[in-house]
Amino acid sequence: MKLTFHGQSCWEIQGEKARILIDPYLTGNPKADVKPGVFDHLDAILISHGHGDHIGDTEAIAKKTKALVVANYEIANYYTDRGCKTHGMSIGGGHDFPFGRVKLVIAHHGSTGPKGEALGSPAGIVLDMDGKKIYHTGDTAVFLDMKLISELNGPFDACMLPIGDNFTMGIDDAVTACEFIQAKVYLPMHYNTFDVIKADAGDFAHRLEKKDLRARIVEPGGTIEV
Ligand code: NI
Ligand code: MN
Repeated sequence: MKLTFHGQSCWEIQGEKARILIDPYLTGNPKADVKPGVFDHLDAILISHGHGDHIGDTEAIAKKTKALVVANYEIANYYTDRGCKTHGMSIGGGHDFPFGRVKLVIAHHGSTGPKGEALGSPAGIVLDMDGKKIYHTGDTAVFLDMKLISELNGPFDACMLPIGDNFTMGIDDAVTACEFIQAKVYLPMHYNTFDVIKADAGDFAHRLEKKDLRARIVEPGGTIEV
């Protein structure tokens, strides 16, 4: 399985048969390496929460690619109203899709829409596809239940988590999160997109190394195989 980073929290997942995007914030994302128009076919778009730097180009990409929008119930309804194909879920629930299994898990954050719409609870996303397990934490603080999420759904082949501070955990807390989450590799995200979330990913990686945990810094446009 190939995981390609497109900046902020946007990851493209290429499996054996399916291609998926998570949090497709490309337009207005100074770190994005691609434009929304490059996607021709996608099986699904998974969305962690309603903030603009996560829902991003969902509507345009979903309409062009016919991707199924998978998110919490409120975000799913928001995109149903805009003419997209959707599947709504809630925290703690999982569902088997043709491409794999998606489960929404806790994230501690907000989830208002672009105009302040109440778009449900923020989520982390667990994806089980082609025998690989991926945990995209969404925007969140560190929380002890990350241990439970790993126990119930892991161990994970990869975990993407924010390190940029201010809106999410910063490096100190992210290092603790990595001790709670069982994953083969930790992929930092949600940093350096804007000044207020500047972070040194090298420092994060170095501090994980000292705890015998493995980080990989994937630059926008870069891919890691898991
Ligand atoms: Ni957010
Ligand atoms: Mn965000």
